[in-house]
Amino acid sequence: MGRLVAKLLVLCFISLTTCSLSAALRAHDLRRGLEQAVRGRLLADATEGGAVVPIHWSQAHYVANFTIGTPPQPASGIIDLSGELIWTQCSQCSGCFKQELPLFDPTASSTYRPEPCGTALCESIPRDSRNCSSNLCVYKASTRAGETGGLVGTDTLAVGTAKASLAFGCVVVSDIDTMDGPSGFVGLGRTPWSLVAQTDVAAFSYCLAPHDAGKNSALFLGSSAKLAGSKSTTPTPFVNISAGSSDDAFGNYYKVHLEGLKAGDAVIALPPSGSTVLLDTFSPVSFLVDGAYQALKKAVTSAVGSAPTATPLKPFDLCFPKASASSAPDLVLTFHGAAAMTVPPSNYLLDDGRGGVCLAILSSARLNLTPELEGLSILGSLQQENIHFLFDLEKDALPFEPADCSKLSSSMAATSF
Ligand SMILES: *[C@@H]1O[C@H](CO)[C@@H](O)[C@H](O)[C@H]1NC(C)=O
Ligand SMILES: *[C@@H]1O[C@H](CO)[C@@H](O)[C@H](O)[C@H]1NC(C)=O
Ligand SMILES: *[C@@H]1O[C@H](CO)[C@@H](O)[C@H](O)[C@H]1NC(C)=O
Repeated sequence: MGRLVAKLLVLCFISLTTCSLSAALRAHDLRRGLEQAVRGRLLADATEGGAVVPIHWSQAHYVANFTIGTPPQPASGIIDLSGELIWTQCSQCSGCFKQELPLFDPTASSTYRPEPCGTALCESIPRDSRNCSSNLCVYKASTRAGETGGLVGTDTLAVGTAKASLAFGCVVVSDIDTMDGPSGFVGLGRTPWSLVAQTDVAAFSYCLAPHDAGKNSALFLGSSAKLAGSKSTTPTPFVNISAGSSDDAFGNYYKVHLEGLKAGDAVIALPPSGSTVLLDTFSPVSFLVDGAYQALKKAVTSAVGSAPTATPLKPFDLCFPKASASSAPDLVLTFHGAAAMTVPPSNYLLDDGRGGVCLAILSSARLNLTPELEGLSILGSLQQENIHFLFDLEKDALPFEPADCSKLSSSMAATSF
């Protein structure tokens, strides 16, 4: 737990705006040509009957193992719900970050194909994010961990029970210092070359097991993505941000609209128009629009009934002695369409490793957003534990339900497709 807290110091304050805004802008242009170009490459068995991808918690993120190439070489990627592409470091890499597994060696794969310049796939990458080197298509991309770039390549990827010929970033340059193990990212974003877009699924879902349980979580692609749904919740629709100049900002994110928030019986006031929430699997902690955050802090403090720790562990600003946390209330988030999500104290009070627990929700003022984006909030992965989220891309909506994610993933993983 101490390690997670230490990681938070580094990871939470990566500039969200710089990374995702530029990625979002690119995504818009990319969508056009790339979608056509990559879908033809899908192998028939990729998601027919659905696919299950086991994911595990590592350091501060959920990670999926996958393989690339023929014969398969192992790789591992941080699951990034807003991520633009799948990428892994390649053997031509110079000055890249340390990873647990060997670098992917394209020359050792009989199925690897570098993308030439001038193809639809290459051309659809915006001019300022692509280039041509020895007639090979090269790209650069902002990811949530930093900037990376390399060759656009295609090869056979096997991730969980899915196997397909997919385009990915074969990274040869990056400014990322460390990722503490994984070799790359598995992007699920609303972009043309994310895993989700390339497998052309109508739906996907994931269920994150508590990070400290040592159990697997799962990502379900295609028809395996379904909720138990006996008393299925009302889905909440995905929304777009259309605030003046920032139209289409965060276009690669899945976003929903928060309309109500309670901490136990206390009603937490939100801005009159509510708050647009970016769903996120990269940040472990959530960020709540500032006014509501200040009110939430007060409500939690008053429910807990004991004095907060005088010097909260950074980056948090509200911590309590562990013993006093037992009276912390459930939080209930109500999204558009009256879809209610209950966040129990175990999902928002994080053990600080020194006898206390800290509120794993921070003010969105920390994100230094531009004024027109100040109403944004982010739902981080810790607050999503043991909730099964179904991304219904046809209905453009998000039903979800409480679930025992580790059980769900083990029972589903046993199914063969
Ligand atoms: C992922 O791969 C690593 C390294 O090969 C291995 O140690 C780990 O057990 C794998 N995790 C899962 C969940 O398969
Ligand atoms: C493309 O590469 C050339 C040669 O390295 C370089 O001069 C040029 O600035 C690059 N263009 C872009 C858009 O990065
Ligand atoms: C949001 O934008 C996406 C992509 O431009 C579009 O497909 C979708 O219909 C929009 N959704 C809403 C609710 O406007």
